[in-house]
Amino acid sequence: KEEYLNDPDRPLIYELLHVEKHTGTRLGRIYTRHGIVHTPMFMPVGTQASVKNVSPRDLEEINAQFILSNTYHLWVRPGDDLIAEAGGLHKFMQWDGPILTDSGGFQVWSLSKNNKISEEGVTFKNHVDGAEMFLSPEVAMRIQNNLGSDIMMQLDEAIPYFESYEYVQNSVERTTRWAERAKAAHARPKDQSLFGIVQGAGFKELRKLSAEGLVALDLPGYAVGGLSVGESKEEMNRVLDFTMPLLPADKPRYLMGVAAPDSLFDSAMRGIDMFDSVLPTRIGRNGTLMTDNGRIVITNGKFARDFSLIDEHTDDFGSQHFTKAYLHHLFKANELYAQNIASVHNLRYLLKLMEDMRKSILEDNFLEFRAEVLEKYGYNKP
Ligand code: GUN
Repeated sequence: KEEYLNDPDRPLIYELLHVEKHTGTRLGRIYTRHGIVHTPMFMPVGTQASVKNVSPRDLEEINAQFILSNTYHLWVRPGDDLIAEAGGLHKFMQWDGPILTDSGGFQVWSLSKNNKISEEGVTFKNHVDGAEMFLSPEVAMRIQNNLGSDIMMQLDEAIPYFESYEYVQNSVERTTRWAERAKAAHARPKDQSLFGIVQGAGFKELRKLSAEGLVALDLPGYAVGGLSVGESKEEMNRVLDFTMPLLPADKPRYLMGVAAPDSLFDSAMRGIDMFDSVLPTRIGRNGTLMTDNGRIVITNGKFARDFSLIDEHTDDFGSQHFTKAYLHHLFKANELYAQNIASVHNLRYLLKLMEDMRKSILEDNFLEFRAEVLEKYGYNKP
């Protein structure tokens, strides 16, 4: 398979290695221009060309494989032209591994003001200086081509989950046309891969309409979007149950914005290979740790004199060297190093969870492993 890496025409290959005997969960590899990664995987988020409070050296040490960054943020500041001038995003931020960039389709709705959507694209006022900007499928591609990310996402409309059938249908049809325009505007098809995003909220027929339209474009991979936006976990599983069989098995599938341990298992079982979320770094810098025994809030007074290790079962530097009392003190004293310790720890917890999940797929004991982790994490406790 190594020869694929040098295939001048195919910047991304998915290889299925094993299907778990009892659940059908996929174990695979993705070949990119910046290395080979193992799936299912979790991708740390570096929105503004930095995983918050975490250095590239930390990321390497905790075995991060792929990271994510954002078209919208880097376009607004410092500008994709500046990053192109710096030699591309990998060089600018000194991360040598693969990078995926989201298209801005989600951030425009969550961060900016005065959004107006039309067939052409979206106009909005940005969250930094309020300047009016226009984002279209072509502009999102130009920006991502300038950044040089390994996987680029099409511009989509991330619609609220509880919109009407009619609204969702019109939106899904437009998102498919936008994918077609994105593909036509792609200037570096030999270096970078474009993924489509399946939308359709909770409507089975509209998820089908979306998936079929995007699959017809023969893109190198597909994401499921519009989930983890306030719907229940059962609802998310239901959508994945009818959406996943519509996506080609020889291409990677990516669930956008998900990191809760139970959802990682539930979605991998349904055929998802890639995940990302700001959750581990966001809750980490606010003092919440994901540990082998569930979430703990380290600023809680009960940890002031707790001289046990932060998390003896996780192998990041902080967890193996510092006590809960020490990290509690750093947060209380507003010492900035606390944010690094907690963020690196949470990322390592999730990356290790995925490493162990991959092992359980290979050994055909996925469900036993899932039950063991979720029991310890506290999902099945009263
Ligand atoms: N991040 C989380 N959900 C979504 C989505 O539906 N679309 C995009 N572009 N990004 C996301």
